[in-house]
Amino acid sequence: MYPRLNINIKHLLANVDFMYQEFDYLDELYVVTKAYCANIDIIDELYHHNVRYFADSRIANIKKIKEKYPDTHTLHLRLPMHSEVDEIVKYANRSLNSELSTIKLLNDAAIKQNKTHEIILMIDVGDLREGIMYDSDYISFCQKILEFSNIKLVGIGTNVTCYGSVIPTKETLNLLIDIKKDIENTLNIELPIISGGNSSSVYLHFENEMPAEINNLRCGDIFITGTEAAYLKQIKGMYYDIFQLEAEIIELKNKPSYPIGKLGVNAFGETVEYEDVGIHTRAILAIGRQDVHFDNIQPLEKDIKVLGSSSDHLILEVPSNKYQVGDTIKFSLSYGGILSLSTSEYVKKNIIK
Ligand SMILES: Cc1ncc(COP(=O)(O)O)c(C=O)c1O
Repeated sequence: MYPRLNINIKHLLANVDFMYQEFDYLDELYVVTKAYCANIDIIDELYHHNVRYFADSRIANIKKIKEKYPDTHTLHLRLPMHSEVDEIVKYANRSLNSELSTIKLLNDAAIKQNKTHEIILMIDVGDLREGIMYDSDYISFCQKILEFSNIKLVGIGTNVTCYGSVIPTKETLNLLIDIKKDIENTLNIELPIISGGNSSSVYLHFENEMPAEINNLRCGDIFITGTEAAYLKQIKGMYYDIFQLEAEIIELKNKPSYPIGKLGVNAFGETVEYEDVGIHTRAILAIGRQDVHFDNIQPLEKDIKVLGSSSDHLILEVPSNKYQVGDTIKFSLSYGGILSLSTSEYVKKNIIK
């Protein structure tokens, strides 16, 4: 069945080994599973490869992992919604937080479930997504957290690059370390964890710039693309071909390259520039924007060009006399491509062991 997402498990596990060896000084290195929707076949492989620290933005994914493997440690990455606190406390050992109203509800849920829920307070160091601002009154914020009976403040963390494109530096992470020390000294508490970010922080390690106090990272992208997320450099020794798309040709014809008739907008309301290269061979593949945007896929064969796609059809220029209807074409994928293809229920997930 096509289209399918081929998933090379051996290479994924080799990337896990690589990362665990490189970052053996961290207390915790979370494997973030959201890009592949915590696909349970992949989780099985990771679990049997001794991965125990899993993080995800969606409670539905964390629930899947926790129900199957109760001895895992699970972190909820996205700030919890008020409407999901019961499930967060039930399935996640820990969550990232920045809102007192939410922490209060997590505390209520934890009391009901007779549990202690751990939280990491997110500090916004400039990326302008989640977190209390680095120069806000974080001391009184923490004081209020400490009043909750069933919440344990275990540390502080930050997230950069994902929204504001901010690149983490030694200075940004040192800022986090200063804040942690200030909270500890002022409130006379211990905060064992400083969570120094995601795959964009990894480059600091390879430049020997990772501050020693950073003892926790939450990484997804780098495990599946072998590419650090700050400067998009492929890491030597890692695999970057874990996920590949394979889709089937349903029409193959020689046609003009420029549409015939009066031109308006396409199905997505876009005005498209078409290049006129005369008659050429065009293949239509049975996959479309409902599954993945064509910007996020790259044919493995260098002589194939992606022309565009509608909801269900991907249109390629291919060499004449090389393919037939029913053949399949393979593509490498960006992180965004992996994310949307994993989410599409129309795409078969093909685990290759
Ligand atoms: C808060 C948080 N931490 C970590 C990650 C993992 O990021 P990456 O996949 O770039 O390593 C994400 C995004 O997935 C996130 O939102």
